[in-house]
Amino acid sequence: MALLPGYLVRRSAHVSLLAVNPASISVSSALALEVLDLRHSFQTDAGRLEVLKGLSFTLGAGRVLAIVGPSGSGKSTLLHLLGGLETPTSGELIWGGMSLSGASQEVLAARRALEVGFVFQHHYLLEDLTTLENVGLPGLIAAQPNDARAAQLLQRVGLQDRANFFPRALSGGERQRAAIARALLTKPRLILADEPTGSLDRANADLVFGMLVELARLENTAVVVVTHDESLVSRVDEVIRLEDGQIV
Ligand SMILES: Nc1ncnc2c1ncn2[C@@H]1O[C@H](COP(=O)(O)OP(=O)(O)OP(=O)(O)O)[C@@H](O)[C@H]1O
Ligand SMILES: [Mg+2]
Repeated sequence: MALLPGYLVRRSAHVSLLAVNPASISVSSALALEVLDLRHSFQTDAGRLEVLKGLSFTLGAGRVLAIVGPSGSGKSTLLHLLGGLETPTSGELIWGGMSLSGASQEVLAARRALEVGFVFQHHYLLEDLTTLENVGLPGLIAAQPNDARAAQLLQRVGLQDRANFFPRALSGGERQRAAIARALLTKPRLILADEPTGSLDRANADLVFGMLVELARLENTAVVVVTHDESLVSRVDEVIRLEDGQIV
């Protein structure tokens, strides 16, 4: 998500920050995500590093998929590609019926703002915005401000009493719960989460993960979650194990 200074956010409450109105791009599919022979490599000093070596899978609407695998196996790279944050070397990615291959950067940004929510290991809440304003931010970016939904989601993650707190006054678990509420704001088709519980203790990891899965199911949002935590894997619908850039 773009990091916007607070004053810009406050002044742009009714202004789209995107060149294209995301609602004007019509797509639909029972699948949240289709991945076809996805490959990605990086140019490094030592030559070309092939990180993803031909991945194919689909994810149905509202399903929860965990991606597990050793460090360096390509999990975060895959998540960045799935979110359209980076362009794959080859292969096809389809979000709810819309292929990313042909899409212009403007259309991609507009669609991403509406269709994809992100949760990272570190919350990336903006320090100058209150918890409630942070949760509402994706609505501004997608040109669909919705304060009532932001307040409702805060309540769903149990943070209604923290609405006017700034992120520095929240605990680690509370910040991640706010990040989950924020990711859900636009009712995205897909949430991408990279180690969302990686910096939490056992009890908070269970709580935060439970909220993510429960809320996503309630809202029919598909989730792709990267995790090292095998105890969380039993709570998802599907698991992909990556090893050396391949599904094993
Ligand atoms: N921008 C980049 N340029 C060059 N190599 C990269 C780049 N990003 C990632 N890599 C390499 O790609 C491989 C996969 O990295 P990635 O971050 O996807 O692994 P990961 O499975 O998420 O690991 P971890 O569990 O440690 O987070 C690693 O060998 C990494 O060094
Ligand atoms: Mg990673």
